[in-house]
Amino acid sequence: MCQVAPSTPPDSPTPPTPDGPVLLLAPHGWRVPLQAGLSLMESAERAGVRLVRSCRNGTCRRCLCRITAGEVSYRIDWPGVSAEERAEGWVLPCVAVASRDVTLLVPDATRPLAV
Ligand code: FES
Repeated sequence: MCQVAPSTPPDSPTPPTPDGPVLLLAPHGWRVPLQAGLSLMESAERAGVRLVRSCRNGTCRRCLCRITAGEVSYRIDWPGVSAEERAEGWVLPCVAVASRDVTLLVPDATRPLAV
């Protein structure tokens, strides 16, 4: 994924990448490239964005957040989110993957590397 430039002010939107799927982190407006084989959380981390998390394996639900655009699949068979929750737009980004643009509502996300 494209890197969020450390010198970019924390609330400034990052320019979209010229190609490839993008993860948009709302309400911040941060855009990071989605890398094949990486979870949404891992892609965000590669760009210097930290999502709220704990287990990172789909069981604790600490990272539970809403998807407002796009679709995800899971790289584990039984992520800790029910079918009803999925239908309502809840996702676990630590184990969710996507091959197309996705928007997550993650108001508690931080960019610890931002200056
Ligand atoms: S960090 Fe535990 S379910 Fe995502």
